[in-house]
Amino acid sequence: MDTPRARVLIVRLLLDAGADRLRERFDVVEGGLDADRARWLELAPGSRALIADPTVPVDRELLDACGQDLAIVANFAVGYDNVDLAACAERGVVVTNTPDVLTQATAELAIALTFAAARRISDAERFLRQGLWSGWEPAAHLGIEVAGATIGVVGMGRIGRRYAELAIGLGANVVYAAPRPSPEAEQALGVRRLELDALLERADIVSLHARAGEENRGLIGRSELDLIGPGGVLVNTARGALVDERELALALAEGRLGAAGIDVYEREPEVHPALLDAPNCVLLPHIGSATRTSRDGMARMAAENVIAVLGGQDPLNPVPKG
Ligand code: GLV
Repeated sequence: MDTPRARVLIVRLLLDAGADRLRERFDVVEGGLDADRARWLELAPGSRALIADPTVPVDRELLDACGQDLAIVANFAVGYDNVDLAACAERGVVVTNTPDVLTQATAELAIALTFAAARRISDAERFLRQGLWSGWEPAAHLGIEVAGATIGVVGMGRIGRRYAELAIGLGANVVYAAPRPSPEAEQALGVRRLELDALLERADIVSLHARAGEENRGLIGRSELDLIGPGGVLVNTARGALVDERELALALAEGRLGAAGIDVYEREPEVHPALLDAPNCVLLPHIGSATRTSRDGMARMAAENVIAVLGGQDPLNPVPKG
């Protein structure tokens, strides 16, 4: 008699570049994009692997619903703040993520948002589309130039480092803040580490690339936004939890912050209503890694981690245990 194939639950959707590899080997069950949490819990029992994404809270309830045979949570993302690492560790469940393959795409999107916010692109386009443009105006829509600006990079991991490199290539002066120094980046890029407050005060543009966790929830709140100041720009392609969205909207509305370029939100897919109305603000729907190359690479990587772990091998991209 054939041994039953292991059950792999793709909670929402995994691109075929990864899912096809899993379908060849396992009994793959897919929640789909419309499934709600109740449906995930219904599909979970007996799963040996769970493929989640940033919108799926992998908590005790979902882990328990999978049962004792669960061996791996493969997150289809580099960030894993949606996964309860401590609960996974208690149950002996390995957690993996998808680093490297999305570094370039995400750093490029952060650069795109840097330009878009610094040059007020969304507001200027809206102005034109609304029929408000009556001719070339010397003092309208003035922004700042990236070349010559001081850019503060918060978080010097893979994406922060690549963003810093691209920004330096564009002529910016880069400083960074991070819990630990990065001697490699300091040497290779000539960047200097500052305390967060000193960086916020000094930088014309601040771009967030830190991992989100309980320790840095609301890292950028009212006083930090005031340090960036009325001429400054904030870019966030990391995680919404790093920024107090209400304070961000207020700072933009009151002119205490110059502009913002935002791809990630505190309670996705909700966006704080005040932010939707805020001026000088470019808002994107979490598309940092949204290139074919990057998303296919992420899907393959998530699948390869499942194949390795269910095959009795070490995971290829384990995240630190909680
Ligand atoms: C996307 O947000 C990711 O963390 O990969």
